[in-house]
Amino acid sequence: MSTDHLAEPQHFVLVLDSTSLDEHECVSTLLDSSSLQPSQRQAIVEQAIELVRICRSQSHRAGTLDAFLQEFGLSNKEGIALMCLAEALLRVPDDVTADRLIAEKLSSGDWGAHKGRSDSAFVNASVWGLMLTGSIVSLDKSITEDTGAWMRRLGSRLGEPMIRAAVLQAMKIMGGQFVLGRTIKEAMNRTNKAWKNGARFSFDMLGEGARTAADADRYFESYQRAIDAIVEKRAGQGAIESDSISVKISALHPRYEERQDDRVMNELYPRLLALAERAKAGGIGLSIDAEESERLLVSMRLFEALAKAPSLQGWHGLGFVLQAYQKRSLSVCHWLAALAKASGRVIPVRLVKGAYWDREIKHAQELGLQDYPVFTRKCHTDLSYQVCAETLLSYPAEIYPQFATHNAHTVAFVLECANKNQAFEFQRLHGMGHLLYQALSNKRPDLPIRVYAPVGRHRDLLPYLVRRLLENGANSSFVNRFLNAKVPPEELVQDPVVITQAQAQFRHAKLPVPKDLYVCESYPWKNATGVDLQDRSQYPAFAEALARLRAKAAISRVRATPDESQALMLSVVSPANTALEIGQVRVAQAADIDQAISSAQAAQLAWDRSGADSRAKILEVFADKLEAELFDMSALISLEAGRTLDDAVSEVREAVDFCRYYASQARRHFGAPVVLPGPTGETNTLSWQGRGVWVCISPWNFPLAIFVGQVVAALVAGN
Ligand code: FAD
Ligand code: 2OP
Repeated sequence: MSTDHLAEPQHFVLVLDSTSLDEHECVSTLLDSSSLQPSQRQAIVEQAIELVRICRSQSHRAGTLDAFLQEFGLSNKEGIALMCLAEALLRVPDDVTADRLIAEKLSSGDWGAHKGRSDSAFVNASVWGLMLTGSIVSLDKSITEDTGAWMRRLGSRLGEPMIRAAVLQAMKIMGGQFVLGRTIKEAMNRTNKAWKNGARFSFDMLGEGARTAADADRYFESYQRAIDAIVEKRAGQGAIESDSISVKISALHPRYEERQDDRVMNELYPRLLALAERAKAGGIGLSIDAEESERLLVSMRLFEALAKAPSLQGWHGLGFVLQAYQKRSLSVCHWLAALAKASGRVIPVRLVKGAYWDREIKHAQELGLQDYPVFTRKCHTDLSYQVCAETLLSYPAEIYPQFATHNAHTVAFVLECANKNQAFEFQRLHGMGHLLYQALSNKRPDLPIRVYAPVGRHRDLLPYLVRRLLENGANSSFVNRFLNAKVPPEELVQDPVVITQAQAQFRHAKLPVPKDLYVCESYPWKNATGVDLQDRSQYPAFAEALARLRAKAAISRVRATPDESQALMLSVVSPANTALEIGQVRVAQAADIDQAISSAQAAQLAWDRSGADSRAKILEVFADKLEAELFDMSALISLEAGRTLDDAVSEVREAVDFCRYYASQARRHFGAPVVLPGPTGETNTLSWQGRGVWVCISPWNFPLAIFVGQVVAALVAGN
């Protein structure tokens, strides 16, 4: 990304790479950056404790999901199971079919096609358990394995209409708790009273991660309709103050990703611009929601283009969402301020902690990345939020801060830092944080509060719902313990600086970098190194590997014959481009195979005597070599099998993992060298007693299989 246009802050370096930052260094910098005095920090804690106490005294107004369990008098396990079934029903595309399904399934009791098949409906049981009961509840096998029988028993105990009502109620709770309405009209009707009383709203049309162009068209149209409806009813107070729209860019194009820069700029950007122009024309705001961390840079490029678009000049409603849990967040604050200056606009910036934390951790582990793009301890995210908040507040002419949080300590922090006359607002999600902000409004009626209001039908609810369930269910979450009288307020609202400073090493000890994920004292298995294909700096190396391989078609053979002219050679072409020959295969003759088997047989005894440790070492060396050649091997697989680079990289990493895994298994189980009987045993050399060193390669993965075959052949031949 070009940063030439940006005005200085001298100290500001835009960090582009998400994973190379060292958490300890980042946190040390954040600790040094905070300007608050200890007395101010103490005042914040006291203010937060007071807010918690006020809210707890009002907890009967919280409107929790417990009402569902109480109303139907079910045990928690049954309530959770019903929630899971309701969630499965959300995937049914239309209401009529969903109703019919409930009726049919209740009478037949057949929730899974066969016994045991219904397990998949219960994947979110632990999340629901956490949310409803605050603890992990495992469902009995009688529920998950034979849901039909369980349903029938429940039905005979409670009556079928009761069960049907319970499932419908569960669905209503799931939808109603977090979604304001099925259509923008419905949502606006429901918010009319609150709006007249001074509340602000930002409507979010549910839908994200469009998989097809048709999905993207549908979401684009729904955003257009929503903007028109908001403009019609809620404009007129200024682009910043009026109700607004929140847009998830991933809904607008199925290829919203770093590698598809051309399509992003040529196909996606015009759509985004059209929505922004519509919002500007109507005098309302439009904010770009923050999504997965690998989309940050591409979202910044799009945002920069919008900020500089001539048709959007003079409009201060173009907003950005910044996630404090990303290690890059502080540099993005400065980048936004510089962009505001350069484009002559005020940028509304919604500061959030980030809703994808679990996914970010899993994703980095799965890809074997160098490190995580996000912090590993919650207090670091809280600290980062504080420093970002101070930073955003330090640019009053460029930034309009929008502090989105449900945490009383974070709210108290903002109140302490903001200058009395400074313009900013708080934001909360629909269905969350109402007690906290009610308490705040009673103390500070002057403070604007905006509610983020998701709108849409059940079919688009699921990803949003799961994020809310995780947020409510995680015991690290403020909202999870907010109203729990057993948790003293002092424990709930500790200063993140104090918690952070109590640690000698900042990164979480139980979250090692992805490479060391499987390492433990007795089991030193290294995770295969991966590559972040959303990181542009990797592309030249891949392009070079592809070019190298294209230039040099490979020849593979079982073994060389003295007379190549006799050999039957077959051409291998890329399935993605059949005009591209990528190599030739010499077809093995019967004699070649005989000879290969005899060589293997002859070498087997020595191989077996070498012991598990030495064989394991060979596998480990092989794994290291594969890892070192990751780009070439992946490029070869991509060419030979027509696979995407992501798939090809996974394939090589899987082979590396297998080699290391079996090496470690071999050592573990057969550590000491095995001495077989002397020469008389040689007649039986193929009974190798399963020493446990196997490499699995997908059969269609021809180049890798050849490569492994050649190494194994070399080993067998004693080379
Ligand atoms: P807290 O309980 O104080 O914080 C919880 C957060 O801490 C988690 O969500 C996570 O971010 C972080 N965390 C938890 N465990 C760890 C750990 N071990 N290490 C590091 N960090 C950890 N989120 C988005 O991603 N994009 C958006 O566009 C977005 N828009 C929002 C709009 C509004 C109005 C609101 C209120 C929220 C929005 N969110 C968005 C969701 C937001 O990120 C979460 O609601 C928020 O993280 C919860 O923070 P909190 O201060 O309320 O709660
Ligand atoms: C989310 O979709 C609120 O944007 C946030 O989770």
